[in-house]
Amino acid sequence: MPEFETLINPPQEYFEEIIRLSGESDNWSVQLGDYKYRTKVYDEYWLFVTVEKESKDVVSSITLARWDAEDGPLYSIGLYYCAPKYRGQGHARPLFKRVMDIIGDNNAFLAGNYKITEKYAMDYGFDKTPNHWHMCSTIKCSDVKIPDTVSENYETKKWSDVNCTRWTEYDRSICDRERRKIMTSWMAMSATFGRVVFDKSSGKIVGYGVFRIVTRNKLSPAPFYADNLEAAGVLLKDILNMIPKWEGYASFSLMYAECNQDALRLLEHFAKDKDMVSTCRLYRSQFTKKFIETPSEKVYAPVECAHQFV
Ligand SMILES: CC(C)(COP(=O)(O)OP(=O)(O)OC[C@H]1O[C@@H](n2cnc3c(N)ncnc32)[C@H](O)[C@@H]1OP(=O)(O)O)[C@@H](O)C(=O)NCCC(=O)NCCS
Repeated sequence: MPEFETLINPPQEYFEEIIRLSGESDNWSVQLGDYKYRTKVYDEYWLFVTVEKESKDVVSSITLARWDAEDGPLYSIGLYYCAPKYRGQGHARPLFKRVMDIIGDNNAFLAGNYKITEKYAMDYGFDKTPNHWHMCSTIKCSDVKIPDTVSENYETKKWSDVNCTRWTEYDRSICDRERRKIMTSWMAMSATFGRVVFDKSSGKIVGYGVFRIVTRNKLSPAPFYADNLEAAGVLLKDILNMIPKWEGYASFSLMYAECNQDALRLLEHFAKDKDMVSTCRLYRSQFTKKFIETPSEKVYAPVECAHQFV
């Protein structure tokens, strides 16, 4: 009989193996530096990995982050995964139980895949949810044509050229929790391109966006916020133009609440043909104790699905 053991915060190569497996089986993409980043920015961070002792096969994983802020700790769950050949054998469930034991009575968040969302609600109490689904719209980079003209009313600056207090203020209009440290370190990661968009006449910040180069040769908008579609268009154009040879990447996706159809319109505006944008239902935001509101109409993509709710 094979024997299994669960490692806590194992070396980087275990994380990379999960990323390789989940990329192949479920097309998940991240940056390989994300593991180190999370251990640095969160108040506590756990990566659990179950391995088969003899073969050293990576079998299943889950991550948990604790983020302390004015309203107390918020836990979040990510990378809940089991390698295809080990699925349906009860390897993932004990990992989930383990993180729930740590969470206890505190509020916790996860982005529940649409196939499993009911299970998270019924079995683990993730039943504070919005009415909407999060959709995922994807376009291949080779199908993108940057429009010749976008709005004249907005302009962008590189993230690093904008005063930190100013973007933090804007960020608080999107995310109710203070996350300057989390976002500053995020922006400082390699292969990360961030810009802030301004209303030219008032000088006000009306959004910001980040694209990251991630595994599987993809680009990842993470996050992408704009007060309106016009500003979003200017932001997208300027970010793409700052990524060397962006046309050579495979694709990128926006993940947005289905009530924000501007996200889809934005991609269609940048597509050679509208039919080149494919859309599917992806996940629902789920909390255990208290649902945290976010301005869905401004959110074209969250920072990430695993440990940020917006
Ligand atoms: C979800 C996943 C981690 C479960 O791994 P697993 O080892 O097969 O799970 P277990 O055998 O421990 O079963 C856990 C429970 O989840 C249920 N479950 C697993 N996959 C499911 C699915 N796609 N839809 C509905 N329920 C599912 C199982 O029926 C089981 O329920 P039970 O305990 O009441 O019988 C695995 O299917 C996976 O990696 N999927 C792809 C990645 C993914 O979507 N992760 C979730 C992101 S939110």
